[in-house]
Amino acid sequence: MELYLDTANLEEIKHAVSLGVVSGVTTNPSLVAKEQEGLTREEARLRFHQLIRQICRLLPEGNVNAEVLAEEAQGMFKEGKELASLAENVVVKIPLTAQGLSAISLLAEEGIPVNATLVFSVNQALLAAAAGASYVSPFLGRIDDAGGDGVALVSQILKAFRNYEISTSVIAASIRHPRHVTAVALEGAHIATVPYRVLMQMIKHPLTEQGLERFRLDWNKIIRK
Ligand code: E4P
Repeated sequence: MELYLDTANLEEIKHAVSLGVVSGVTTNPSLVAKEQEGLTREEARLRFHQLIRQICRLLPEGNVNAEVLAEEAQGMFKEGKELASLAENVVVKIPLTAQGLSAISLLAEEGIPVNATLVFSVNQALLAAAAGASYVSPFLGRIDDAGGDGVALVSQILKAFRNYEISTSVIAASIRHPRHVTAVALEGAHIATVPYRVLMQMIKHPLTEQGLERFRLDWNKIIRK
């Protein structure tokens, strides 16, 4: 399973890239909005584009997901093409609505990779794949928040895709904690996109810390004072 970082923060991305474990980044309007404020609409658009270019440079071999803001198909298509022109490794995120499906099919016809986002059901995932999305992002944490079973949704989408040999990759998104990551890996998700905090939690284990301390103490015993 590949790991993406779910953030628009450059420092977090730089650190994660230096660990050599991430093969992509997902952003969304909320994550990008955390990184800027007090701008006109046009300034915000230009800053967003600049940020995406910077992220693409930090991860030249990885997929960098940038989401459209328009809500009708032609607007999403136009914005999607604009985002895809920022760098070769941009993947355009399109929300799963009827307008979004039209935009996905238009972008797919142009050979632009699309990640269908805000997916909350198997049917939405099937529609995204049928429209030509390269990726679908079920938001498992938000399903859990609403009292459902997010991991089960990821598992069901994977099963449906396997049944029909659908090549669209499943990105487990809206991950809240390390157990989500393990669970979706066991289900066979292609990618999990994780917040920086979760990536840091995944590294740590108390027994690793204890083991390291023991090695240090034992080694120091043989050193003459
Ligand atoms: C995925 O691409 C989204 O950016 C993200 O996972 C949303 O997660 P949230 O529910 O934590 O906002």
